[in-house]
Amino acid sequence: MKNYDSIRHVVGESIFIDDVLIPENTLYGYVYYSPIAHGKILELNFDEALKSKGVKGIYSAKDIPGENQIGGIIPDENLFAEEELHFVGHPIAIIVADTYLHAKEASKKIHAVFEKLTPILDPREAAEKNSLIIPPRKFELGNVDDAWKDCDYIFEGRVDSGGQEHIYLETQGAVAIPAEGDSIKVISATQGPTAVQRTIARILALPMHKVEVNVQRLGGGFGGKEDQATAWACMAALAAFKLKIPVKLVLNRQDDIRITGKRHPYSSDYKIGLNKEGKILAYEVTFYQNAGASADLSPAILDRTLFHCTNAYFIPNVKATAFSCKTNLVPFTAFRGFGGPQGMFVIEAAIHRAANELGISSSEIQKKNLIKENDEFSYGQKAINSFAIKSYKLCEEKFDLQKLQDEVDEFNSKNFLVKKGLAVMPICFGISFTTTFLNQASALIHIYTDGSINVSTAAVEMGQGVNAKMKRIAAKVLSVDENRIHVDSTNTLRVANTSPTAASKGTDLNGFAVIDACNILLERLKKVAALELGEDDWTKISFKKEKVFDEDEPTTITFIDVVKKAYTSRVSLTAQAHHSTPNIYFDTKTNKGNPFAYHVYGTAIIQVTLDCLRGTYETDFVKVVHDFGESFHRQIDIGQVEGGIVQGIGWMSSEELIWNNEGKLLTDALSTYKVPDIHAIPKQIEIETLPYDQEKIVNDEFKDQIGPLNSKAIGEPPFMYGIGFYFALINAMKSFNPKMKLKYDSPLTPEKVLMNLYGE
Ligand code: MTE
Ligand code: HPA
Ligand code: MOS
Repeated sequence: MKNYDSIRHVVGESIFIDDVLIPENTLYGYVYYSPIAHGKILELNFDEALKSKGVKGIYSAKDIPGENQIGGIIPDENLFAEEELHFVGHPIAIIVADTYLHAKEASKKIHAVFEKLTPILDPREAAEKNSLIIPPRKFELGNVDDAWKDCDYIFEGRVDSGGQEHIYLETQGAVAIPAEGDSIKVISATQGPTAVQRTIARILALPMHKVEVNVQRLGGGFGGKEDQATAWACMAALAAFKLKIPVKLVLNRQDDIRITGKRHPYSSDYKIGLNKEGKILAYEVTFYQNAGASADLSPAILDRTLFHCTNAYFIPNVKATAFSCKTNLVPFTAFRGFGGPQGMFVIEAAIHRAANELGISSSEIQKKNLIKENDEFSYGQKAINSFAIKSYKLCEEKFDLQKLQDEVDEFNSKNFLVKKGLAVMPICFGISFTTTFLNQASALIHIYTDGSINVSTAAVEMGQGVNAKMKRIAAKVLSVDENRIHVDSTNTLRVANTSPTAASKGTDLNGFAVIDACNILLERLKKVAALELGEDDWTKISFKKEKVFDEDEPTTITFIDVVKKAYTSRVSLTAQAHHSTPNIYFDTKTNKGNPFAYHVYGTAIIQVTLDCLRGTYETDFVKVVHDFGESFHRQIDIGQVEGGIVQGIGWMSSEELIWNNEGKLLTDALSTYKVPDIHAIPKQIEIETLPYDQEKIVNDEFKDQIGPLNSKAIGEPPFMYGIGFYFALINAMKSFNPKMKLKYDSPLTPEKVLMNLYGE
């Protein structure tokens, strides 16, 4: 079965925001934003701009009928700046005109006088000045302070990781169409339709039932549209509400890069203690998260950094402290991994450092510390059905790690200006929203009288294939052909109170809701079929591949016959179901609990080749053993692993955000911000499935606690294999310049590589 979305993309039929057929009189918006990182608005005058060609209106903070507030977790973010400006790109107003160019042109005629204040750009400086989003968070296990004395080796250091721009192919945007009364319909490219609905209602002082949000699909989200698609939808809605004319607002690429949030840059300090056997006895880490100018999702992201700060390892004594630091940069936001990668990079750097000092390979330490069954994570959850060791071992054996390492050593001994490097990267990623209440979803299914089926869920399609997965699940449960099923847009009228499609939970949460709704329909259809067939016990009826069976014997009737009969018998052909993840909880006071339904494991081996004259590099291969559970859509799952790896490598290698000391982003175009292109992707990505045997599962009690049809979440975990790239490259560099002082500071751009190859 084909994923039809991809065919529509290729022939250009898929409808993104810019393709939505809009009414003839639709107006276009342009966002006028702060050119300075920190300051005050002394004068702001729109008179000249309002006279500019084609301009129909300019709206700012004072025009908001409701609350000028878009903060989701913490109410600390205005839709439009009031007196103070907190970052370059801080929205001040929306200009609406008959064309996009007229609106943009008018922005240059706005008269504004600003008073510049000194910006804080560095998270450590922010922490020192107590400029924090929330009080510091701390996860603790065992007693670190007591454990140092038992350690034979202790290493301390600093690790920095850069931010990452999403570069979704479709930039942010929305179309707002006023409807009868004060109602408004908004077509948004958001991962969170309900967040958009709720926030528009807040801005416009409307009840939520007057705001309809529809999401057809996103040209990529990657977390960038979990929270940050909201502002643009609110602005379009505000203008449309005021003018009673449809308004379309789509950011151009440069504005999108400048004024929307990215992955959080982090700066961290670690201290790691090991015994002679290579067991990590203690780990202390402090994270300084650069949150930018407002909270956005930073507190939740900060927590996930803590949850994943020991990656796939069991460390008996852990003290992890995290500061969410308020700076004068764009509010940073969700990005694949949601703070997990930042935490995992630090422990991997600490292990690499220890290995280097001890003259062994990182994998010798990694292997000795992998988390076993019933070991405790620092947040109190036990590792149940842990595949950390199993995936590592399988990876080592399947791909013959020793032989690969010997070949690299041999190559390096024979080549002077070209070096190879190898690294192993195990992963362990917790599945569930760490904000427990978000772990819910629902589905609404209609069967029409011609036997065609319409499925609506809370899931948003953003290229990850969730629609194809919902279709497959419904087809399997109803045992009908996939062609019968249409997965409709995500719409707040059909499915209400949605959690964002995020945390890799889209398929899990919505898939279970689809299963439940299908089962409700199946029961009704079986009862109708039983009556039709004269069978007293409806539970003896089954559906298999469009046919109806009675006590496993084929009958003369089919799925469509039963549907028609149900309709004329006045039996409902519509079902709605709600699903919430069982057995998860987390106490944010003690920071202990069972926040994750399960964990996803896997191990990758990454090899790079480095040109020591130019500082350029290539990824030779990534070989992975990944824990898919039982994949029910192999094509999509493989695509997610490959895409995640490439995006992870991009974060570690070429994607560099550079701000000047006035807080202006210098890398605000695709010419200066380098995402992996066709030449940068690994020459080979080999993916092995971790054998997943339900019968032999270690802890039976929890075997049902994974995804639908025994699958496991796939969206984010593979991203973190990309972290291995960094260490493979460092290893290659080290073999050229053994005196190189190891500084863990990602991304490792070719410029940085070159400086290190010839430095001390
Ligand atoms: N894959 C594509 N093609 N496009 C995306 O935007 N987002 C990623 C991942 N894979 C993304 C993607 C992120 S950040 C998440 S959380 C998951 O998909 C969300 O979808 P899921 O929960 O359905 O896996
Ligand atoms: N992942 C993504 N989004 C979230 C999460 C999470 O764990 N928690 C709250 N929002
Ligand atoms: Mo993904 S960062 O949870 O949208």
